[in-house]
Amino acid sequence: MKETRMLQVAVIGCGYFGTNHARIYEKLPNALLMAVCDRNRAMADELAALINSGRSEEEERCRAFYDAEEMLRELGDELDACSVAVSEHYHYDAARPVIEAGKALLIEKPIAQDGATADRIMELVGKHKTRMMVGQVLKFDPKYQIMAQKIENGDFGEVTNMYLERSSTNGVPRRLSGAISMYHYMGVHDFEAMLTFAGSARPVKVYAQAVDKVNGAFNRDRAVNEGDATFNTITFDNGTIAVIHLFWAHASESLGFVARAHVFGTKATGYIDIKSPGLEIYEEDRLTEYPELTYWPEFNGEIQGALKAELLHFCEATLSGKPYIVNNERAVLAVKVIDACRESLKTGMPVML
Ligand SMILES: NC(=O)c1ccc[n+]([C@@H]2O[C@H](COP(=O)([O-])OP(=O)(O)OC[C@H]3O[C@@H](n4cnc5c(N)ncnc54)[C@H](O)[C@@H]3O)[C@@H](O)[C@H]2O)c1
Repeated sequence: MKETRMLQVAVIGCGYFGTNHARIYEKLPNALLMAVCDRNRAMADELAALINSGRSEEEERCRAFYDAEEMLRELGDELDACSVAVSEHYHYDAARPVIEAGKALLIEKPIAQDGATADRIMELVGKHKTRMMVGQVLKFDPKYQIMAQKIENGDFGEVTNMYLERSSTNGVPRRLSGAISMYHYMGVHDFEAMLTFAGSARPVKVYAQAVDKVNGAFNRDRAVNEGDATFNTITFDNGTIAVIHLFWAHASESLGFVARAHVFGTKATGYIDIKSPGLEIYEEDRLTEYPELTYWPEFNGEIQGALKAELLHFCEATLSGKPYIVNNERAVLAVKVIDACRESLKTGMPVML
């Protein structure tokens, strides 16, 4: 059998998503998970124990660290790459030591909580000539990617207008207790997809409106009241218009997560609709279940789907030196368009980019 080199990785941030990254790396054929790291010691210890469970003491490979700089110093050349899956506001703090140590970096979306911080991360990557990929998971969803490819091939003619929606129950804002923006948690996926579908057209103007009826307690403490729902109208330099509709207060818990993208071109129309990806379960006295099958579904004892494909691609491209398929500049622009939408909510006026 051919011997292949494995990418030696660590995961920084051991919360909900860092746990997914660690569990996936642990099963990938081209990755060796060397360590997990969280400022919250219990989180790091718990995740390392989960990864090492079922192994003898000698076989335990995954170490727990509580400080990224210390981890990078101690592991040195044993580490090739890191995933950063810390809370949105700490992306720069966690990414900086990884970039300065010259390791490849997979940084979760949004690259940062504002455009200026995103620029600082990009500058650091440029200065240290390291590799980075932003974890825009829609890049690994065949629905969004096939639509993007057809647009790029010219099959849509000119894209003239589009509508993208992402919505969830208010379980999400309640869990986040107002700490994270709806735009950063959910919307950045659609802003990045919109920019992909728009091709070379550049966004020049945004106007955003919000309504606040359900989650008021969480909304009103924010620097910008994003409400329960926002409509964001984006105008491009070629005249294309787009609406991004975000909403996180579905009354029914059955509607855990809904996403749509409708793209209208001069030669074609494309619809993406994610509510039921093909499996619906109706049980006596239970809410209807639409299990999520695309992004990180779990079956056959491991996490599958787009997130696994994303991490596999990150490992393969890092090992081979091939380019990553995520366009980091576009991920940064998505955050800057979001900044403009939040500014528009604050001022009640359109904002020029
Ligand atoms: N791709 C997706 O669709 C998707 C889905 C969910 C979350 N995410 C992203 O994953 C990231 C993490 O989200 P989450 O829901 O797992 O958050 P979380 O709050 O569950 O976990 C974040 C962890 O990071 C730790 N942390 C913060 N700063 C740190 C630092 N400097 N060093 C070490 N640890 C640090 C915290 O202690 C916490 O345990 C966010 O960027 C989020 O947007 C992406």
